[in-house]
Amino acid sequence: MSGSFGDSAVPAVATGLDAFRSDVLAGLAAPQKTVPPKYFYDARGSELFDRICEQPEYYPTRTERAILDRFAGDMARHIGRDALVIEPGAGSGEKTRVLLGALQAPRAYIPVDISGEYLLGSAATMREHFPGLDVQPVAADFTAPFALPQSVGGLAAERATRRLMFFPGSTLGNFEPDAARRLLQTFRGMAGREGLLLLGVDLQKDVGVLERAYNDAAGMTAAFNLNLLQRINRELGGGFDPARFRHRAHYSVEQQRIEMHLISRCEQTVAVAGRSFRFAEGETLHTENSYKHTPDSVARLAEQAGWSLCARWSDPRDWFALFLFEAV
Ligand code: AVI
Repeated sequence: MSGSFGDSAVPAVATGLDAFRSDVLAGLAAPQKTVPPKYFYDARGSELFDRICEQPEYYPTRTERAILDRFAGDMARHIGRDALVIEPGAGSGEKTRVLLGALQAPRAYIPVDISGEYLLGSAATMREHFPGLDVQPVAADFTAPFALPQSVGGLAAERATRRLMFFPGSTLGNFEPDAARRLLQTFRGMAGREGLLLLGVDLQKDVGVLERAYNDAAGMTAAFNLNLLQRINRELGGGFDPARFRHRAHYSVEQQRIEMHLISRCEQTVAVAGRSFRFAEGETLHTENSYKHTPDSVARLAEQAGWSLCARWSDPRDWFALFLFEAV
């Protein structure tokens, strides 16, 4: 996984099929059946997620994009010249293009993603937009420390200037609070001395707005959720019939999170990787939490992980915010 590499290949993710199988089997055997949300993002899941971002009800992407469009110049002044930009969980790259376009002479861009195939496409697009920029994709599960390419922008990685961890899209919200803290600690370790973190987080708001965002009328979120079953069928020899499940997303005020579930429409037994799992009618498979934070809860979490708040940018309704932290 380490070392620099060219356009045509991204090394395979170390945690591959075995981890997927053991996570799914453990999750299906638990009293509340569950599958970790990181497994949504195979090639089809990544495409469906891009479609979700275009839905009128799904405000986070467009709101964050508007904040970036408006304040990227200001963010760039805080970040300074020559930054090495590392993006864990790199997505379609639209927001990153706004940031890279505003930064002064960024040293290199390192998108990191578990879906190697998808990553190759977005790295190629980024090279087209910034022909002089050193773009080096890394296929990795970014929840654990990952190796950086040995040389970036003509320098040994460890000697390159200020590292900026760019983590937009409110992906932090998909982590349980303790795991979110550990993730920010991992980023702190990877950013090193004088490192920075630019973090995009969805904020608490009206429950109706939140629930509509995760139950879009076109059914993209439902298709994204159900794709997890198709992935299990394809990669683990699963026997799920997606037509026997339906998507449900609701906001828990107590837990301050959107919960996504797949609800079994009938009593059924499903075989996965040689084991059988019984679902009662109405029983749910819990597939995702999306925590909604407050500015204070974000700052607290990051401070506990070794970061100190420098600046915050938001939209007029305060629905979403980008926070800039520096390593303590
Ligand atoms: C990637 N993540 C921030 C999205 C979210 O809003 O929690 C994933 C998603 N799930 C359903 N819609 C979007």
